[in-house]
Amino acid sequence: MVKAAVLGAAGGIGQPLALLLKTDPAIKELRLFDVVPVVKGVAQDISHVDTPAVTSGHVKSDDGEGLKAALTGCDIVVIPAGVPRKPGMTRDDLFNINAGIVRDLAQGIAQHCPKAFVLIISNPVNSTVPIAAEVFKAAGVFDPKRLFGVTTLDVVRSSTMSAQAIDKPNSADEFTIPVIGGHSGHTIIPLLSQSKPALPSSLFEDKEKLAALVKRIQFGGDEVVEAKAGGGSATLSMAYAGFRFAQQVISAAFNGKKGVIAPSYVYVADNKEITQSIGKDIAFFSVPVELGPSGVEKLHPLGDISPYEKELLSACLEELPGSITKGVQFIQQPK
Ligand code: NAI
Repeated sequence: MVKAAVLGAAGGIGQPLALLLKTDPAIKELRLFDVVPVVKGVAQDISHVDTPAVTSGHVKSDDGEGLKAALTGCDIVVIPAGVPRKPGMTRDDLFNINAGIVRDLAQGIAQHCPKAFVLIISNPVNSTVPIAAEVFKAAGVFDPKRLFGVTTLDVVRSSTMSAQAIDKPNSADEFTIPVIGGHSGHTIIPLLSQSKPALPSSLFEDKEKLAALVKRIQFGGDEVVEAKAGGGSATLSMAYAGFRFAQQVISAAFNGKKGVIAPSYVYVADNKEITQSIGKDIAFFSVPVELGPSGVEKLHPLGDISPYEKELLSACLEELPGSITKGVQFIQQPK
C-alpha cells in the first residue's frame, strides 16, 4: 500500500510525473498538490486511468489544511514545485523563489509525514536539498536515509548523449553511467570511464570529443531551455527521470527488490569512506546509492576515476560547498 504525493503537481513536470506514477501498480493512493486550483482537474483527469491508484487533488490553503490532506500518511513525496529557468538563467537564479517554497513544503512533511521518502526535483537541487535537511533537523525528524535530490535526468542524459556521441543513438539504454557531484553545470560529473558496458577507447583518446560530450551532459538542460525559448525548462524528460527514480525507491523500499543502485544527491557528511573518496569534508554529494527498505542502504565510493575526471571533481568542489552553505544559511540565518 504505497501512498505517494506530488507537490507542484499542476506544473510542467508535475502533470506528466503524476500520470506516470498513476501507472505504477505499487501505488494505491496518489495525492496531487499545488497552489493553483487546476490541480483538482489534473487529479480528476488522471483518476480515469484504469490502474489501482486512487487519485485526489489538493489546493494550498491559508490554514494549511490542503497540504495536510495531501501529506498525511504519505510514504513517498516527490517535489517538483517552483519556478523553472528561462534562457540566460542558471539554476542558482531560481534560489530566491524556490528556497522558500521548498522550506514551506518541507515543514509540512515534517509535520504530517515525517517518515516519508522525500525526492526533491525543485532547483537549485544543490541548495534545496540542504534546505529541506535543515528544516527536518529543526523539527527533530531528519533522517539522511530518506532525503534525496533527484539527479536522474543527468544519468538519463549521460546514457543518451554518450550513445549519440559514438553514433549508436538507438542503444541509449545500453550505457549505465554513474553521475556524481551535484545537479548544476560544472558540479555534474559523469564518470564516463566507469560506463557499463565500457565506452570505446577511441572516445577517451579524442580529448576534444570527450570534453564536448561532458560539457553537453553538464549543460544539457540549456539545450531544452533555449529550444523552449522562454517556455520553461525540461519537463517531459524530467518526469520520465523522476518517475524512474521514484520507482527505484519504491521497488527497493516496499517491494523487497535487492541490488537497486542509482545515483542521487544525498547527505554524505557522516560517511568517512565517501568523503575520503571525494577528497573533501562535504555535507551533500551525489554518489551511487544502494536503495533498501529504509531508503539509503549503502553509499558507494567514487571508485577509480581518470585524471580528467579528477579535474572535473576539483571544478565541482569549487562550486558545490557554496551552494550547500547558501541553503543551510537560508534556514539557520533567515534575513
Ligand atoms: P512549472 O512552473 O511548470 O511548475 C511548477 C509548479 O509548482 C506550478 O504548477 C506551480 O503552481 C507549483 N507551485 C509553485 N509554488 C508552489 C507551492 N508553494 N506549493 C505547491 N506547488 C507550487 O515548472 P516545472 O517546469 O514543472 O519545474 C519545476 C521545478 O523543477 C523547477 O524548479 C525546475 O528548475 C526544476 N527542474 C529540476 C530538474 C532536475 O533535474 N532536478 C530538471 C528540470 C526542472
